[in-house]
Amino acid sequence: MTRVLTGIQPSGQLHWGNYFGAIRPMLEAQKGKNEMFFFIADLHAFTTVRDPKVFHENQKNILLDYLALGLDSDKSLFYRQSDITAHTELAWYLNCICPMGLLERAHSFKDKKAKGLEANAGLFTYPMLMAADILLYSANKVPVGKDQKQHVEIARDIAQKFNHQFGEIFTIPEPMIAENVQTIPGLDGQKMSKSYGNTISIFEGEKKLKKQINSIKTASVEMGDPIDPETCPVFSFHKLFETPNLEDLAVKYKAGKIGFGESKKLLFERVWEYFHLARERRVELEQNFDTVEKIMKEGAMRANVISSKKLEEVRKVIGIR
Ligand code: ADP
Ligand code: TRP
Repeated sequence: MTRVLTGIQPSGQLHWGNYFGAIRPMLEAQKGKNEMFFFIADLHAFTTVRDPKVFHENQKNILLDYLALGLDSDKSLFYRQSDITAHTELAWYLNCICPMGLLERAHSFKDKKAKGLEANAGLFTYPMLMAADILLYSANKVPVGKDQKQHVEIARDIAQKFNHQFGEIFTIPEPMIAENVQTIPGLDGQKMSKSYGNTISIFEGEKKLKKQINSIKTASVEMGDPIDPETCPVFSFHKLFETPNLEDLAVKYKAGKIGFGESKKLLFERVWEYFHLARERRVELEQNFDTVEKIMKEGAMRANVISSKKLEEVRKVIGIR
């Protein structure tokens, strides 16, 4: 059976990039005969989140969001990274065999630094913790957005290096990136990311969602002029959200019969409908937060069993036991 695993940081509100890059592929994989692992990467989030109150709120929100979006805790093992101490221990061992150059080449670290974000040591060694997240559960496939592909490749590299030196301990994981998703652009056209303040949130209220959709950056086109749907960011969201009668919409675009304003209005209606059930489920879950906590506790117990077994194997082969 294929093991599918992914994590998301509780570093802000979940957005459309997270949904198409990581959550929807997991919901799809959940329908098949796969073993699913889904976790909250809260240790990773501490590389950037500094306000304890905000951190705590994010943590709570992301649990509700995941479950509301359809993550089935009977089919997926759902847990918090910080509940499983094996992650940090394995990350340490991996750090010790990781050449500095491998981390220095990581785009994510380089980009964050270039954007003026604090470059702490946690951010630098982040890929080793991520490798530990993946390798402890012998994951075969890791659904992520394109921005995380390199991190999964680093996990492969370090697993191969470890196996080469100490024997076949780790399964070599593969990134799983949907062809039509890759990198979802944000309001300003660059990668949609919590760190860049250009996101459209999944659970945004009606008024703010309309405002966010209206501020998607588009080219300047005269009223009545044709628009190429293939280069329009609003149309690309219609495609992702599978707006009904997409062909007709494309024809209208090309004939100059619809402008960006009208297309954004249609997009809002589609998205509001798309996440309607999830919004309802989220309200129910929030009222029963005890159940959510119970799910996390059970998840942590099961994840502990799997990860501590792998960690024991590692301790043995490196000679610490
Ligand atoms: P952010 O960049 O907003 O902090 P995370 O790093 O927590 O988001 O990403 C969680 C998951 O969502 C990862 O698999 C990541 O690749 C995916 N993801 C984030 N942003 C995008 C995007 N713009 N397009 C596609 N996938 C994305
Ligand atoms: N680094 C990922 C991100 O920022 C989150 C993450 C942490 C992750 N550990 C993981 C994703 C393991 C997949 C597998 O998006």
